[in-house]
Amino acid sequence: METRRPSLFIQGTGSYVPERLVTNEDLAQIVDTSDEWIRTRSGITERRIAAPGEATSDLAVQAALRAITDAGLTKEDIDLLIVATVTPDQPFPATACLVQTKLGLQPIAAFDISAACTGFLYILETAAALLERGPYRHALIIGAEKFSAIVDWQDRTTCVLFGDGAGAAIISRENKSGFEIIDTLIGADGANADILCIPAGGTACPSSPQTLEAHLQYVKMNGREVFKQAVRVMGQVAQTLLARHGLTPADIKVIIPHQANVRIIEALAKGFDLPLDRFFINLHHYGNTSAASIPLALDEARKAYDWQKGDYVLLVAFGAGLTWGSTLLKYI
Ligand code: UT7
Repeated sequence: METRRPSLFIQGTGSYVPERLVTNEDLAQIVDTSDEWIRTRSGITERRIAAPGEATSDLAVQAALRAITDAGLTKEDIDLLIVATVTPDQPFPATACLVQTKLGLQPIAAFDISAACTGFLYILETAAALLERGPYRHALIIGAEKFSAIVDWQDRTTCVLFGDGAGAAIISRENKSGFEIIDTLIGADGANADILCIPAGGTACPSSPQTLEAHLQYVKMNGREVFKQAVRVMGQVAQTLLARHGLTPADIKVIIPHQANVRIIEALAKGFDLPLDRFFINLHHYGNTSAASIPLALDEARKAYDWQKGDYVLLVAFGAGLTWGSTLLKYI
């Protein structure tokens, strides 16, 4: 089996990070941490943090405008809009609807998908299925997050790891040169939901003075367990997807993994028996931007390499849920 969807392409990409740069040294002023600890345990040296009035939809809009321009399209060409986020502007309506109106894209369908750091691969697969069925021609898909609004700035075990940003792509049925979407595999295991979550603020445990007092409105993470699961599920999903196409990791020119921790990527590289330089890594500059991580890296990687016809790219991610996914692309 080579190509499941021969007519779908990544026609353009774009990304955006907020202006404010926060270094590890800056964080050491507010929690008991150090540049040395953050760098050696995670690889992160700095991250971008959105301005107080800047919402997830604002980051998404900037990335979207760049992707539309990159694709050589105009806003009128877009007929489907999907946003991946776990940091919506509001509990509802969908952030995609807010992005739609800010971009002036009415009345196209607009909705959100929540799959945390795997979100971009979930919306890529959803857009691909809808485009395949028609009548859509150009889907705008955006991973956007403002994690700075949901981390506990008093909790050094989480607040140093995340950053804000957005990445977008245009998925099209029209055949131009660029990346063809060969296949995607996504999965989840809700039995591991509690190792990375926000405990309160939903219907199971609505916000109350007690939940606020206990900081339950913020991200809670069992870092060691997430680390272990991340290495396992990313390795498995990537190998399964590649095997469907008779490929191995060695056949891939560039692997673009979720940018959570360079040590997770090193473990993945070891499992694939590949040197680290086969992986695209930009987490040093942005930290973990959750659903924005893969499209931000994809946008930078598309522009960083001298692509040749036939080059394969593999996207691979994991996130809260647990969720995981992998997408195989081929340069044509
Ligand atoms: O998209 C998914 C998002 N999440 C992830 O990918 C997270 C996956 N997990 C990880 O990346 C790593 O587990 C962490 C970076 C979160 C932690 O690294 P670790 O090597 O697993 O450290 P640890 O949790 O075992 O903590 C080691 C020590 C602890 O002190 P004690 O108990 O040994 O005295 C922590 O309290 O480091 C301490 N520590 C810190 N020290 C300075 C934890 N956070 C910090 C900090 N600065 N920011």
